[in-house]
Amino acid sequence: MFVVEAVKKIREVIEKEKREGKKIGLVPTMGYLHEGHLSLIRKAKEENDFVVVSVFVNPTQFGEGEDYESYPRELERDSKLAKSAGADLVFHPSVAEMYPKGYNTYVETYKITDKLCGASRPGHFRGVTTVVCKLFNIVVPHRAYFGQKDAQQVVVIKQMVRDLNMDLEIIPCPIVREEDGIALSSRNTYLNDEERKAGLILSKSLFKSKEMIENGERDGLKIKDFIINNIQTEPLAKIDYVEVVDAENLQDIEKLQGEVLIALAVKFGNTRLIDNMRIKIS
Ligand code: PAJ
Repeated sequence: MFVVEAVKKIREVIEKEKREGKKIGLVPTMGYLHEGHLSLIRKAKEENDFVVVSVFVNPTQFGEGEDYESYPRELERDSKLAKSAGADLVFHPSVAEMYPKGYNTYVETYKITDKLCGASRPGHFRGVTTVVCKLFNIVVPHRAYFGQKDAQQVVVIKQMVRDLNMDLEIIPCPIVREEDGIALSSRNTYLNDEERKAGLILSKSLFKSKEMIENGERDGLKIKDFIINNIQTEPLAKIDYVEVVDAENLQDIEKLQGEVLIALAVKFGNTRLIDNMRIKIS
């Protein structure tokens, strides 16, 4: 009973665990797990007694023409990996279980979803907040774990939790990268060798701009221009956005101060990669 598909069943299991005083950690994923996901699961296991990993390719967060159909799905592999990282249960509902016939309720966070990924993927965050809210209601965890890889997602979910008085803690976790710097992503599997090589320009630009800031650069526009120019040296790269914003509220900032988020999205062929870096200005 490591993989549970029904909401009713997972509720029974969680209620039993809670009656025994166990703390519940939740790691929401869309599967095709890699070290990034596994780092979240390990952290959840360190901080909780019982860890649920959800594996659900959520149709409501994909736009038309996006990769919902082709998104890699390998439950057996995912279950093994999740278990090895410390998961106690994998929640793998069907689309009909999550969105039964007649489903008609959505959770939407405004303003902070208009920019960055929200601007190029309209409706995406509405799908994310809806499914994450449902997962929170189904599992009712004490803590839920999200990767900084999706920096805007963390900000949006924190806002939803605050606004809707949800009684749980959101734990952001650092980005896991390959040795050469590229951020791990299930979508990296779409890249051919050339695109994979070209994709390195993202982390390289981010690390370089971090260096510029550490050396005293405080002009957000200069950092942005530097990254855009650097990425444009890579012929396979097509920039979606490069933004320098306040890490807490995603407002544009020109003079860098406090906690800064440099976020970008770039297409290589049909594959859209995102990456970012949070930098504390001292
Ligand atoms: P997914 O892309 O599968 O990612 C699941 C979680 O793993 C997210 O919190 C994401 O930020 C984190 N993650 C992915 N790559 C990472 C990396 N290289 N380092 C650290 N963490 C990483 O994000 C989603 O799924 C969905 O939107 C979801 C929240 C599950 C809602 O459907």
